[in-house]
Amino acid sequence: MTTPFADFQNEVYLNGLLGQQPQHPFGWREVEAAAHAVMTPEAVGYVAGGAGGEDTMAANRAAFDRWRLVPRMLRGIPGKREHASTLLGTALPAPVLLAPVGVLSIVHEGAEPAVARAAARLGVPMVVSTASSHTMEDIAAAGESAAPGSPRWYQLYWPADRDLAASFVRRAEAAGYGALVVTLDTWQLGWRPRDLATAYLPFLQSTGIANYLSDPVFRAGLDQTPEDDPGAAVLKFVGLFNNPTLTWSDLAFLREHTSLPIVLKGLQHPDDVRQARDAGVDAVVCSNHGGRQVDGAVASLDALPGLVEAAGELPVLFDSGVRTGADACKALALGAAAVLLGRPYVHGLAIGGEDGVHHVLRSFLGDLDLQTGLSGHRSTAELSRASLVAAPSPGAPGSAPDERAQG
Ligand code: FNR
Repeated sequence: MTTPFADFQNEVYLNGLLGQQPQHPFGWREVEAAAHAVMTPEAVGYVAGGAGGEDTMAANRAAFDRWRLVPRMLRGIPGKREHASTLLGTALPAPVLLAPVGVLSIVHEGAEPAVARAAARLGVPMVVSTASSHTMEDIAAAGESAAPGSPRWYQLYWPADRDLAASFVRRAEAAGYGALVVTLDTWQLGWRPRDLATAYLPFLQSTGIANYLSDPVFRAGLDQTPEDDPGAAVLKFVGLFNNPTLTWSDLAFLREHTSLPIVLKGLQHPDDVRQARDAGVDAVVCSNHGGRQVDGAVASLDALPGLVEAAGELPVLFDSGVRTGADACKALALGAAAVLLGRPYVHGLAIGGEDGVHHVLRSFLGDLDLQTGLSGHRSTAELSRASLVAAPSPGAPGSAPDERAQG
């Protein structure tokens, strides 16, 4: 039997009694500040930055404030809440996955393998990015070394070469990834002033392209090996990354090439979810890439209810702005099947490598567990629209919970 996530709290207090103070902070803002203090300015810009004026990033956070949990009492909540479920054949200890984040070696030398080990120790699936700084095979091996049989998914940036796309998918299947997450919102990088200010794009320094450099199809298209002519390999990557002409009909190609569940990431419009259903995919992720692609865009949480309605039985996962257990509760209450944690675990990596990610993830799960129970739910699955009220608009008199918060 696994220990309740909230027991992390007891562990921390008990260690305090024994004279051991916590090594890392717990609040997400403090973790972020500690991470920024040890990262290079370029890495801070790359991770923290968003598109344009960063309005979408701000909107992502502000949207959570417009919903409020309404705690319910005397419901006989058990000490161990139930959060486990199965999503697309993958066992989840809680409705939480690690979002795909590329080029993690710019944050900490442990990079993706360190994240894979931390996630595997908790059984939380890591969604491994195409733009990882280590190969998908090495990252899978790292996760397996920490916990044999632990789950992980692969995120595909669909390159402008179908054979290469098929090769990535084949490799992901062979390495034991349990689902394919196809990111649709980044067929070209957004306008990112912080990276422009430092003229910093890690890929141009051969960082974050390990999956390309190790790929037989990619290598076959080069005159010389990447080891002999790294510059030519980078140029080839640059020519393949942007893929603006993809359309819904291309998804049939993927379906033909894999038996893995296909998840589309980056949707924000209900009509796109309907198209996804028609295309026969297995799930979607309501995400705006953490505000890194389109500035002045709808907050991801504001888009979520419309997507859930359009999705019908299709699971809708959620990311963009999730920082706390309360945030996760709100997204789950609005119909998300699971949330993806993004920047916070990258900050954990920066401050402590594998242990830092483990700390952030345990903190997040402990917070989520307590939030679920203290607000009156026996499990995250019990969270529903009835768990929330809309916050009063600024200036309006405070609103007491009304019949909307019954249940
Ligand atoms: C990302 N994200 C991302 N998404 C993806 O599909 N493939 C990728 O390689 C990356 N890389 C990446 C790098 C960095 C530095 C960040 C911050 C984000 C997007 C990621 O999966 C997720 O959608 C966002 O991180 C969610 O926003 P928050 O919650 O982190 O603000």
